[in-house]
Amino acid sequence: MICPRTVFITGANRGLGLEFVKQFLSLENPPDHLFASCRDPENSVELGKLKDHKVVKVLKLDVTSQIDISSAAKEVESRLGGKGLNLLINNAGMCRKRQYMGNLNREDLLEQFDTNAIGPLLVTQALLPQLVKAAESRDDPMSCNKAAIVNVSSILGSIAENGTGGMYGYRPSKAAMNMITKSLHEELKGKGILVSALHPGWARTDIGGPKAELSAEESINACMNVLSKLSSDNSGLFMSYNGQVIDW
Ligand SMILES: NC(=O)c1ccc[n+]([C@@H]2O[C@H](COP(=O)([O-])OP(=O)(O)OC[C@H]3O[C@@H](n4cnc5c(N)ncnc54)[C@H](OP(=O)(O)O)[C@@H]3O)[C@@H](O)[C@H]2O)c1
Repeated sequence: MICPRTVFITGANRGLGLEFVKQFLSLENPPDHLFASCRDPENSVELGKLKDHKVVKVLKLDVTSQIDISSAAKEVESRLGGKGLNLLINNAGMCRKRQYMGNLNREDLLEQFDTNAIGPLLVTQALLPQLVKAAESRDDPMSCNKAAIVNVSSILGSIAENGTGGMYGYRPSKAAMNMITKSLHEELKGKGILVSALHPGWARTDIGGPKAELSAEESINACMNVLSKLSSDNSGLFMSYNGQVIDW
């Protein structure tokens, strides 16, 4: 059963991030602290409605801003008061339209790398002391209830599964996120921290578009099921929303 006491989610104002927040709140045993971060809290209407839940704390976090990352990490530390963070979900991501030979542009490519790979890594670095605290406070095996980093990746970042080419910004930035996931796993497994990359399926959000197979609710419902089954047996792998392992 998935029941982390403290959870931090990036890109929580819409799409899959917002759905993660909703589904954590609807658990039988919801977290005591749910940090829902987003770039623009003032204008995050849907997320704002969830602030009535006492456990939700909305934080400003653009994952490409080191100032935001540092101040969010400080806020988390002071609110948790030594409890530690059980689960970090690096969900924020972007996919620019110009993705193919003939219309590529340096700014778009760098922005996707920054948002999809470098940002999540630096968010992880800033929150790592809280994850270590959570891991050290329990003796039980690795799980999302104890201490875990889940990087929301995409099957489009799999080199093995790339049969159509193109998407020169999105694919390599998610492949970089996948490599970061594997490195984090190797570095942190000795500390009892689980690390996974997770493909949420093709879902109807701004990134997925209206023709996608799954609603955001179906996607995250399946992802929550995967999270509940993560353990030392599958840490360091690239998981699909349907529970299968994807080749890197
Ligand atoms: N939907 C799919 O089919 C699909 C498939 C595979 C993987 N994914 C992955 O799932 C994750 C969630 O995407 P989604 O489908 O929910 O797309 P979405 O509806 O477009 O949401 C993207 C989220 O990321 C946030 N974001 C973008 N840049 C950011 C930054 N610099 N700092 C902080 N937040 C930022 C957005 O915030 P703003 O509102 O401020 O822009 C928004 O909350 C992404 O990592 C995406 O790559 C999605």
